[in-house]
Amino acid sequence: MCGIVGYIGDNSASPILIDGLKKLEYRGYDSAGIAVYGDDGVKICKTKGRIADLEGKLENEGKLEGCVGIGHTRWATHGAPDDINAHPHKGGNGRITLVHNGIIENYIELKIMLEQKGYVFVSQTDTEVLAHLFDFFYDGDSLKAMSKVMKMVRGSYATAVLIEDKPDEIIAARKDSPLIVGIGDNENFLASDIPAVLKYTRDCYLLDDNQIALLKKDSIKLYDIDLNEVHKDVYHVTWDVEAAEKGGYDHFMKKEIAEQPKTVRDTLSPRIKDGKVVIDELSLTDEQIKNIGTVHIVACGSAWHVGMAARYVIEKLAKTPCEVDLASEFRYRNPIVRPNDICIVISQSGETADTLAALREAKSKGARTISIVNVVASTIARESDDVIYTMAGPEIAVATTKAFSAQLNVAYLLAIRFAKAKGLIGENYEKTLCEEMLELPELIEKLLEMDDDLKALAKKYVNSEHVFFIGRGLDYAISLEGSLKLKEISYIHSEAYAAGELKHGTISLIEPGTPVFAVATQSDLLEKTLGNIKEVKARGAKVIALVGEKHSSVDEFADDVIRVPEISNILMPSLTVIPLQIFAYYMALGRGCDVDKPRNLAKSVTVE
Ligand code: F6R
Repeated sequence: MCGIVGYIGDNSASPILIDGLKKLEYRGYDSAGIAVYGDDGVKICKTKGRIADLEGKLENEGKLEGCVGIGHTRWATHGAPDDINAHPHKGGNGRITLVHNGIIENYIELKIMLEQKGYVFVSQTDTEVLAHLFDFFYDGDSLKAMSKVMKMVRGSYATAVLIEDKPDEIIAARKDSPLIVGIGDNENFLASDIPAVLKYTRDCYLLDDNQIALLKKDSIKLYDIDLNEVHKDVYHVTWDVEAAEKGGYDHFMKKEIAEQPKTVRDTLSPRIKDGKVVIDELSLTDEQIKNIGTVHIVACGSAWHVGMAARYVIEKLAKTPCEVDLASEFRYRNPIVRPNDICIVISQSGETADTLAALREAKSKGARTISIVNVVASTIARESDDVIYTMAGPEIAVATTKAFSAQLNVAYLLAIRFAKAKGLIGENYEKTLCEEMLELPELIEKLLEMDDDLKALAKKYVNSEHVFFIGRGLDYAISLEGSLKLKEISYIHSEAYAAGELKHGTISLIEPGTPVFAVATQSDLLEKTLGNIKEVKARGAKVIALVGEKHSSVDEFADDVIRVPEISNILMPSLTVIPLQIFAYYMALGRGCDVDKPRNLAKSVTVE
């Protein structure tokens, strides 16, 4: 969701900005632009469409020469994705040039105020307000202007500003939207995310909310909103740039699906020692775990599906009541959270605005917060009491796959840890579960070998208009994920239903030939799900059954059967999700969709 880059140094800024924007493409965008400080002041080139369109425009209209610049990919919120609304925006007769990620909530009142002062708006964006407001406060002191702007706006922002009479600086700030400063040698960088600067530096400052960065080519100074200087630790990036590249695969999604054995292994192996779960990052004592009232799990999208699965597993093993909330609902429903409750926050990016707000809500009500996060040092990670990192490495495809798998496994670990603290599972059962979890990477490898079969299956159903998913218990959680994966990347309408719920309305949508995925891996619920399979079959559905390899009872009612290796019921989701991801991938490919960057979607959803 919107990407920001900035460069100040001795090299030509344009290629560095374009290169950085390409690294942020995964965040999702519909227009792009750059501004470069050259001999004639700050010049802008921007366009709707992809970065390739921006490159084409630069080619046609002339490159922007200069060694200082900012760039932006915009994911439209206020105003259509067109050339005018694309960033950068100018403020105050061109004195200010600014890019922004986030939403200015009080932009209408600020716009009226600025119009009364004579400022003329050309775009429909909330961002233009920031540009004019900055100009309004600017009297030669950029820090003072930025501080005043920050105190006046409500909402979320990461912003970077070029000023006509300050050719040797970029000033930037953040609140509720990520922004990092890359530390170079006689050159410095700015970006929404680390991959954009990794080619040039591994050392960064990760800005916190309400902080300002003043970049010159040979210095970086950080301030709080009251302009007190702030000294931060340098964050050294240890992962490689290749981790964020396709490595021979056609798509990031395919690469990330294939990386799941490694991801699961890397997530589990440091936390399973001699048949025991050891989560060093968890500061809760056994006594505190015993006293947990309710576990509140909050997340969005696929991470919420992990939460749905986690609830089944935590309640089954640890017998601790769990509530799973969509973060966007939790934050506004005034949830009842008691001081001995805990809140588990699940997020790949660690920057999702709703999830972050839900975390803050739970914290403000006295709950201890544990986050399951992939992006190291992201805001959610930094604000949680404990953070358990999923070891998925950078996930670039917009549709999550490997981070989902890693999150699931952290949920299993937590459930086992809680059950053990409460004396509800013995050493032997813990050991069995740990051994089985350590087998998961190998079993996932086996499932990846089904690639050709799943490709053929997708070919058979590629022209479907609707696809339904049904399942019970943990199978329902995975049905939700299978359905989301399919619809978000292939644009086929899809719904997931708890198998027993379908007949309460939605079954009226089942027509002869409608594909219904029946996820039926939970042995204790198999017979019940079989009943639901028969119900849809009787109405002409094409049933694709996803079952454990030893089960054959659904075969006679299924048009297609996908078999997954058998493992304890509670671990099954780690396996069942894999064929559903691969199926969705081939369906999207078969329909000519942009698999890695589905329309309208963003990787990191930093607005609510
Ligand atoms: C779907 C997907 C999204 C994310 C959701 C939360 O494939 O990726 O539904 O799961 O936007 O994002 P994070 O996990 O970054 O908080």
